[in-house]
Amino acid sequence: MKQANGDKCIKLKLKVWRQKTQGSKGRFESFKAENISKDMSFLEMLDVVNEKIILSGKPPIAFDHDCREGICGSCGAMVNGRAHGPEKGTTLCQLHMRHFSDGDTVVIEPWRSRAFKVVKDLVVDRSALDKIIQAGGYVSVNTGGVPDGNAIPVPQEIAEKAMDAAECIGCGACAAACPNASVMLFTGAKISQFALLPQGHPEAKKRVLAMVGKMDQLGFGNCTNEKECAAECPKEISIINIARMNREFLKSGLFS
Ligand code: FES
Repeated sequence: MKQANGDKCIKLKLKVWRQKTQGSKGRFESFKAENISKDMSFLEMLDVVNEKIILSGKPPIAFDHDCREGICGSCGAMVNGRAHGPEKGTTLCQLHMRHFSDGDTVVIEPWRSRAFKVVKDLVVDRSALDKIIQAGGYVSVNTGGVPDGNAIPVPQEIAEKAMDAAECIGCGACAAACPNASVMLFTGAKISQFALLPQGHPEAKKRVLAMVGKMDQLGFGNCTNEKECAAECPKEISIINIARMNREFLKSGLFS
């Protein structure tokens, strides 16, 4: 089938996880996705499928989204067993249908992790990530006038490493991809962005102990160097951040 702009459309068979509530039993349901432009994003493809489901009088597939620009971290699902789908360094909202072929079967599931309970269909409760941030992912500052941007000199190389860590959008793909459901890439990135900068040093010990403690308490697993997290992270956060978190943890004096 051709669109007015000449782009070829594709049709897919979807197998989507449907689950009415957190406590209910889920199952896969099949849908046909037809007349899908290769220029559409994955979420736009789901929108098209949902319009048809709504017209048939059934409840649409529930999925999380907000910015649809790869910024907010709201979207996410397992697509054919891959967190955020087959494309490296790409969120589900930025995944385009040109990466699929006409006639493909696409299996779509929610994040699977003990700490991420399914709320409905593809929507999971990721408030555990917020709780880790609340435990220490901040710096305490005295409010007042705006400080001079250059008052605390930070070497360029260090600033760039901190910014690389700060790119984490907190989508939870790391935990979903990890066989241990470890969220250490997320926690490591959030600790690193402060540990690298002078502004983060005064609370460094307290921060790492609180955030790692909360992460364990919430039921996330431990890192065993599978590296699935870094491979599936849509922001390509480096596993170096886990090593840095572990160093910060040892330096915190817990064992001294
Ligand atoms: S909807 Fe915001 S990152 Fe995908």
